[in-house]
Amino acid sequence: MSRFAAPSPNAWWHRLPELASVRVRLRELDPADAVALTTALRSSQVSEYLSPSPTSLAEIETFIAWARRAQTEGRYICFGVVPQGEAEPVGVFQIWPLESSFRTAEWGFALDPAYWGTGLFEESARLLLRFGFETLGVQRLEARAAVDNARGNRALQKLGAVPEGVLRKCFLSAGEYRDHVMWAMLADDWRREQADGESLGGEVA
Ligand SMILES: CC(C)(COP(=O)(O)OP(=O)(O)OC[C@H]1O[C@@H](n2cnc3c(N)ncnc32)[C@H](O)[C@@H]1OP(=O)(O)O)[C@@H](O)C(=O)NCCC(=O)NCCS
Repeated sequence: MSRFAAPSPNAWWHRLPELASVRVRLRELDPADAVALTTALRSSQVSEYLSPSPTSLAEIETFIAWARRAQTEGRYICFGVVPQGEAEPVGVFQIWPLESSFRTAEWGFALDPAYWGTGLFEESARLLLRFGFETLGVQRLEARAAVDNARGNRALQKLGAVPEGVLRKCFLSAGEYRDHVMWAMLADDWRREQADGESLGGEVA
């Protein structure tokens, strides 16, 4: 398929499935989530390493509406991260195609610092990875993390992503163009990890 061929509509264009595990649900964002997301993402700890992102209530309302439109056109997906037992999102996981078919895609994530180090990230990430590799048909999933974002880089490393090099002055965050590590995960690696987990009798997220 050509890199720019029009993608075929999929069920998720209309409505994202809910992805759930023991401690967390990933679900489509709703306009009513704007207040909770503003609280979750407004900290400079969150925005420090991200490309300029919405932080005010008005910006987040606009972002949620934009995300919904882009989803219905098959070019962007944003899940809200909702801890089990709660109703409102405390962060987001995003994935978007780098070619129209989603075979090569990129992802990004941000959580309320109150949930850092709680295990919520890894559980959410594994739900998103399964959706990406098994439902969207991603073959290569990229992520860019600022070289000095120690938390973000370690978070990707422990999922099994491979650092492939440094992209110089890759994009703007906190007012400067920073070098970023290019991390990638391949569908083959994902399948191998799932098979290893099953043969060891371990829990596969
Ligand atoms: C990235 C993010 C979602 C990860 O969530 P999290 O709950 O912090 O992630 P975890 O705690 O599961 O993993 C972070 C790892 O970094 C490690 N870490 C934390 N500070 C560190 C430091 N200064 N140096 C090295 N490692 C560090 C933690 O110990 C942990 O590793 P471990 O589980 O092996 O102990 C969250 O930190 C966040 O929202 N950051 C702001 C937005 C962002 O940077 N997004 C990513 C852009 S690529």
